Parts: sequence; structure tokens; C-alpha cells
Amino acid sequence: MYGGGSMRAWLSVALVVACLGWTLSAAVTDPGDVKVLLKLKKAWGGGLSLWSGLDPCYDGWLGVFCDDKNTRVTSLYLISADLAGTIPPEIGSLSALVNLDLSFNTNLKGQLPSELGSLTNLLYLSLQKCSFSGRIPESLGKLEKLTFLALNNNGFSGELPSALGALSKLKWFDVAYNKLEGSLPVSTSSKDSLGLDTWPDIEHYHLNDNQFSGIIPPELGNAAKCLHMLLEANSFTGPIPESFGNLSSLQILSLHYNQLAGPIPSTLSKIIKFGKYAGLHQIRVSNNQLSGTLPNLNALNQLEYVDFSNNLFDPQPFPKWLNESSEELQTIKCENCSWVGPLPADILAYPSLQGLYLQHNRLNGSLTIPVNLGKKLQYVSLQNNGISVVNPQNPNAELPQIQLEDNPICSGEGLLRAGPTLCSTEANSNGANEILTWISSLTTNNSCPSLCRNANHVLNPYTCHCGYPLVVTLEIRAPISSIVNDTSLWDLLKAQTYDSLRNLTSQIKPPLELDSEQLWVYQAQHANHSKVHVRLYIFAPVGAEVMDRRTDNLIKGWFTTQKVEYTSPFKPEFVIDIEPSQEAGSVTFGVSKLAIIGIATGAGALLALLGFLVSVALRQKRRFEEERKNNPFGAWAKAEDGNAPQLKGARWFTFNDMRRMTNDFDDDNMLGAGGYGKVYKGVMAETGVILAVKRAQEGSKQGADEFKNEIELLSRVHHNNLVGLVGFCYDKAEQMLVYEFVPNGSLTDWLRGE
Ligand SMILES: *[C@@H]1O[C@H](CO)[C@@H](O)[C@H](O)[C@H]1NC(C)=O
Ligand SMILES: *[C@@H]1O[C@H](CO)[C@@H](O)[C@H](O)[C@H]1NC(C)=O
Ligand SMILES: *[C@@H]1O[C@H](CO)[C@@H](O)[C@H](O)[C@H]1NC(C)=O
Ligand SMILES: *[C@@H]1O[C@H](CO)[C@@H](O)[C@H](O)[C@H]1NC(C)=O
Ligand SMILES: *[C@@H]1O[C@H](CO)[C@@H](O)[C@H](O)[C@H]1NC(C)=O
Ligand SMILES: *[C@@H]1O[C@H](CO)[C@@H](O)[C@H](O)[C@H]1NC(C)=O
Ligand SMILES: *[C@@H]1O[C@H](CO)[C@@H](O)[C@H](O)[C@H]1NC(C)=O
Ligand SMILES: *[C@@H]1O[C@H](CO)[C@@H](O)[C@H](O)[C@H]1NC(C)=O
Repeated sequence: MYGGGSMRAWLSVALVVACLGWTLSAAVTDPGDVKVLLKLKKAWGGGLSLWSGLDPCYDGWLGVFCDDKNTRVTSLYLISADLAGTIPPEIGSLSALVNLDLSFNTNLKGQLPSELGSLTNLLYLSLQKCSFSGRIPESLGKLEKLTFLALNNNGFSGELPSALGALSKLKWFDVAYNKLEGSLPVSTSSKDSLGLDTWPDIEHYHLNDNQFSGIIPPELGNAAKCLHMLLEANSFTGPIPESFGNLSSLQILSLHYNQLAGPIPSTLSKIIKFGKYAGLHQIRVSNNQLSGTLPNLNALNQLEYVDFSNNLFDPQPFPKWLNESSEELQTIKCENCSWVGPLPADILAYPSLQGLYLQHNRLNGSLTIPVNLGKKLQYVSLQNNGISVVNPQNPNAELPQIQLEDNPICSGEGLLRAGPTLCSTEANSNGANEILTWISSLTTNNSCPSLCRNANHVLNPYTCHCGYPLVVTLEIRAPISSIVNDTSLWDLLKAQTYDSLRNLTSQIKPPLELDSEQLWVYQAQHANHSKVHVRLYIFAPVGAEVMDRRTDNLIKGWFTTQKVEYTSPFKPEFVIDIEPSQEAGSVTFGVSKLAIIGIATGAGALLALLGFLVSVALRQKRRFEEERKNNPFGAWAKAEDGNAPQLKGARWFTFNDMRRMTNDFDDDNMLGAGGYGKVYKGVMAETGVILAVKRAQEGSKQGADEFKNEIELLSRVHHNNLVGLVGFCYDKAEQMLVYEFVPNGSLTDWLRGE
């Protein structure tokens, strides 16, 4: 009736239409959500090119998590996924979204759309270290369930909107490292009676490194649950509020590098360890214009670190109360502080003291080096003081690094007594906090042959294998003094990070195998404003050069959601960068299948988040186990060429999918049989679309590589005389190919074997 050619042409049109219909109707995900995700994919590209398959929830798109019924999208974790562009306003339609994390995509830019305020189910919003700019939209104040808001390390400018004060569940507020300005909004002065003081549960105010000005509002002292008050490196003026003594949970007070004036309030002495309260650990107020004399804070029984340097204090003697306060005192800094008179004779015997930084004062008299020299003491910086005598009670003691140049003891006859070691003019590198070069890698292994190809191809010193590690940069925002040079501390950091990561990964079924040798604390560096940056390398297991997507995504998620409350000296500690593995782009299709657990397991600071994520993980556990067993790449990833198949538009099916489709390979559904096996008619239950399933029988199966090659080839070939490959099944030792069904008897004939 029809010429063969035109019949074919007509059929292909019909099939295209059929497939299109299938695409839309097969989706179990809410069509509105699918539409938004497709929009995001188009807008952002990058890692989203891995979003393949027809249905985000069902096909487990990388970083996409859905509710129990697999209909609504509840989480998007697209961390360091090489996304570019702006956030489309349509994102506001993902109304079931609970977690949104787009952190560390440095090419995401532009203003935040006010439509983000429509995502009223959000608990967690993290947009760290992208390149967003403009004002923080007022509409974010509508996210009333939000507990975690991180907008740090972007280019946001303008004032903070007081409307954010409506976020009454907020615990974490991080806008550090932006260009925000103006005074901080508080309820008493804002039109809407909202502000940063109307967050009853807030634990973290991280506003450091901006251009905020005006006074520090005394209302912030109401935050009874606040642990970390980080306001450093801004332009605040006026006094430190007396009300800060009401911050009964406070552990870290960072106000350095502002223009604060007046005395340090004695009310701070109320913040002691008591019952559930941990006590004030750190006072950082250097580089302001504070004046008067230091109050007696000897009640602070947990004090660990004090820095009063570079202020305008009255001349005063060394504050003896320091030694009466805490047995934990590790660092005393008061450079350029107008301290006068003698040092306490037992200062170098303080039990926990590691660093004493008192250069540029008028301390005089003698420096006693006691018999019971503090065991942890590493640095004593006393340059430019009036010390005229060194009194070694134990001349054979092994001395810490003591710097006395520009003291009377280092001139004339004194020099002979002090010896050149104490009077060296060599710069005290640790005293200078602004060193901006990485110190050399903390662990090296000379017994490894160096076989790595280029700078990104890194030698793991523990295993001597090269790979492309995931690079994570931590910022320790309140480090103690000797942290950079103490490799035992880095071993501790490694141990703690590894421990937490392993705890996390063990909650996933099947557990991820993470070996301690995969984690390398690579470098540490002093950064501006008394911070320390640490670079971690996380390698793939031996045998692989690049971490698989699932693990990679899981680890990234852990690092961004987990603000590890490490014990001293690492608190507080933040992730400020995650660089994708350099070769990450080479992992292609379908590994996203492996990532369905993705990041679903953030733990730690936010228990609610943990609960939620673990429940997501557990919900997906069964499906994951099933899919993992079925994972076609398990076999192919180990093949010599190491590459997963490159499929154009074809999807893969599980054995159970095939059983469902063919009514358990019912003979009634058989279209034909031959030496290669049988062809069945299959029906997609959801849509009624009819397919043809070619099932290879024992003896006609191919090797993994041949099968891979065949489906690669078939998926690419689009020809009028060939039916299109819809997908394949490589599961439970089965090999099946799924074709478009052409209602034409001859079909089975030419499917046969050729
Ligand atoms: C907070 O501190 C201020 C000043 O120290 C004090 O007057 C006020 O009563 C305190 N408020 C509370 C609730 O403790
Ligand atoms: C000492 O501190 C004052 C006040 O902050 C500052 O102006 C001055 O530059 C400092 N001097 C030195 C040597 O650091
Ligand atoms: C004060 O210093 C002495 C050493 O002279 C030490 O034994 C004592 O434990 C210190 N007290 C506190 C509270 O640190
Ligand atoms: C230390 O300096 C003070 C004045 O600041 C002076 O009164 C005292 O005599 C000096 N002590 C010594 C031992 O030089
Ligand atoms: C760290 O210690 C090494 C020697 O152990 C020294 O050469 C180096 O200058 C120190 N670096 C810092 C930042 O203190
Ligand atoms: C250095 O490499 C060797 C050989 O692989 C290994 O046995 C050793 O543990 C490595 N050393 C360190 C410090 O990791
Ligand atoms: C990891 O789990 C172990 C045992 O459950 C626990 O003792 C340890 O504190 C956990 N470590 C971290 C860092 O959470
Ligand atoms: C540190 O401060 C200097 C001078 O203020 C600035 O130029 C530099 O960019 C800062 N570095 C970082 C890493 O912020």
C-alpha cells in the first residue's frame, strides 16, 4: 500500500510522537517540578548535563531527592557541580523543596530572585562561595521554617533587610565575606520591628569580613543560645555592648579589626562554664581603639585564647588574673598594649600556655626561665620591651623559641648573658599573622616514585598512587597560636575528619568504604585577620584516579552541611572551598544512578537536618541496593578502558522492570524466538507504551565489553531502516535490549540475531 521508504518515514514520526508522549506521561515526578528542573538544567549546564533519563525522581538525577512517593522534589544538592549562570525565578515553583544547596559553584552569579521567598518549606539554604551579588532579597524573610542560611563568600552588597528577622527558627546565619554595609537591623529601630535580635534560637552570627558600620546593637545580647559571635573585620564603632555579658552560651567572641572604642565590659565575666553552659573560650578584640584598663575576668574558667593587641589601653601591669582564670589558657596576645612593669616570675610555667605574644610593650625587669617550664610552651615574643635580665633557673632546660631583640638585655653586656639565640633578629614567623604563602605540604613520602602526570595529578603519600583528589579548603576562624606549625594537630584534624566521615558513610547502606589513607591534610597557611586555611585532599580508593560521583557528592554534601564542632583547637571551623576533582568531567552517563543516595546524610550541627537526610537515605536505601546490584557500570568501570558506555538517550532497566513489562516473560507476550534468545512484547505499565524486548539466552550472551559496544552503537544509530533503541537491561546476568515496538510482523525477523 505504501512505498517502504514513506512507510518508514511515517513510522518514525509516529514513534517520535509516541516517545514524546511517553517522556511526559512516564514521569512520576510532578510535571511542574520536572519543568523547573529542566529549566535549571538549561540555565546552569555543568554537572547537570548528567541529568539523564526521563524522570528526575525515578531516574535518580544527581543531587535530586524526592519525597516518599517519588512525586515531589524535596532536596537539591548541587555542590561544586560546575554550574554557571543565574538562578531562574522559576525555582520558586519547587514548592516542596526542603533543602537547597548550590554552594561552591563560582560561576553562579547575578542577583538572587525574590521568588526564592516562595520556597516556604525550606529548612536549609546554602549558597556559599558562588558569585552572587546585589542585595539579599527581603523575601527570604518569608522562609519561616528556615534553620540554616549560609550566603557567605559571595559579592552581596547593601544593607541586611530587617525582614530576615522573621526567620524565627534560624540557628545558623552566615553572611561572612561579602560587601554588606550599613548598620545591623534590630527590632527596636526597624519599621517592621524585626531584626537580627528576633531569632530566639540563633547559635551562629557570622558577619565577619564585610563593611558593616554603626554600633554593635546591644539587642544582640539577647541571643542566649549564641555560641559564636563573629563580627570581626568590619567598621563597627562605639563600645562593646555591656549586654554581651548576657550571652550565656557564648564560646567565641570575635570583634577584632573594627573601630570599637571604650573599655572591655566587665560583664563578660558572667560567661562561665556552668551547668549546660560551656563558658567563654576566646576573646578576640585586637586592632580596635579600646581604652581604659582590662577588667578582671578571672571568673572565666574556660578561657583558652585572648588577643587584646593594638588598642589604646592605658598603661597597666600584666593582668595577674589571667593565671587565676583557666587552666586551659593557651595563648595570651597583647602586642602594642602599653603593659608596664615586670612579668610574673612564673609566666613561663603556666600549665597550658603555648604562645605568649607581648612584643612592643614596656615590660621591664627580668624574665625568669623557671625549673618547671610549661610543657606546651612554643613561642615567647617579647621584642621591643624593657627586659634587662634573663634569669635561667635551669640553665640546661630546652628552651622554647624566645625572642628578646630590642630589649636592654640584647645590647651591650646583656647580649653576652642572653646569648645570640634569644636576641636573634630573625623575624618571628609565627608572630606575623599575615603570612600569605602556604607552608609546605605537611606530609611527604620520599620513598614514593613520582609518576604523576601533571600538577593536578597528585601523589598520595600514603599509598604512592597518583589521582585527582577532591580538594576541600577549611577555614579555621579562631585558631590558637601554634596551629600552623604543629603537625600533630593536623594528624588530629585528619583523625577527626576521617572519623566523622566514616561515621557518616557507615550510616548508608551499603556503607561506603573510606580508608584513612584517602584523606590527606595537605597544607596549612595563616590567612588575613588571624585565620588559618587548611587544604584537604580526598583521594579515590587505590585503583581509581577519580572518586565515583556518588561518593564525591556524598563527601561534598557532608562538608557543606556539616559545620563540624571540633573540639579545640579547630573550632569554629568552616569549609570555604570545595574544588571539583580535576578529572571529574570524565565520569559520564549514568554514574548519576550511583549518586541517588547522594548527599542525603549531612550530620552534626543540625540534628533536624541529619534526621531528615538520614530518613531520605534510608528511604532510598532499598532502591539503591537494588540498583547498585544492577549497576551496569560495576562491570564496565573495571574494564580495561575504564569508561562507562556513552549512550545517547537510551535508558537502562532493572531485571524487575523487564519482568513487570513482559508479565514475567509470559509466553503469550513472545513475538518470536531464535538462536540468540527470545523477543517479547512489553508494556510500560504507567503509560501503556508498547516496546519490544530482546532477551539473550545462555550461550548467546556477549562479554561486558561487547554488550557495551553494541548498545553504544545502537543508541547512536538513527536510521530509517532501524528501530530505535529505547534502553537495555544488564542485570542479574541478563542481557536485554529494549526497542521501540513496530507493529509489523517482519520486525521480529530482522531483529533476529543480525
Ligand atoms: C542584659 O545585660 C544588661 C546590661 O548588662 C542588663 O541591664 C540586662 O538586665 C540584661 N538582660 C537580661 C535579660 O539578663
Ligand atoms: C599600636 O596600636 C595602635 C592602636 O591600634 C595603632 O594605631 C598602632 O599602629 C600600633 N602600633 C604598632 C607598632 O603596631
Ligand atoms: C597559675 O600558674 C601556676 C604556675 O606558676 C600554675 O601552677 C597554676 O596552675 C596556674 N593557675 C591556673 C588557674 O592556671
Ligand atoms: C619598670 O618600669 C617602671 C615604670 O614604667 C619603673 O617604675 C620601674 O622602676 C622599672 N623597673 C625596672 C626593674 O626597671
Ligand atoms: C615551622 O617550623 C619550621 C621548623 O620546624 C620552621 O622552619 C618554620 O619557619 C616554622 N613556620 C612557622 C610558620 O612558624
Ligand atoms: C610511604 O610509602 C611507603 C610505600 O608505599 C608506605 O609503606 C609508607 O607507609 C608511606 N609513608 C607514609 C608516611 O605514608
Ligand atoms: C564516630 O562514632 C563513634 C562510635 O559510634 C563515636 O565514638 C565517635 O565519637 C564518632 N566520631 C565522630 C567524629 O562523630
Ligand atoms: C588580605 O588582606 C590584604 C590587604 O588587606 C588583601 O589585599 C588581600 O586580598 C587579603 N587576602 C585575602 C585572602 O583575603
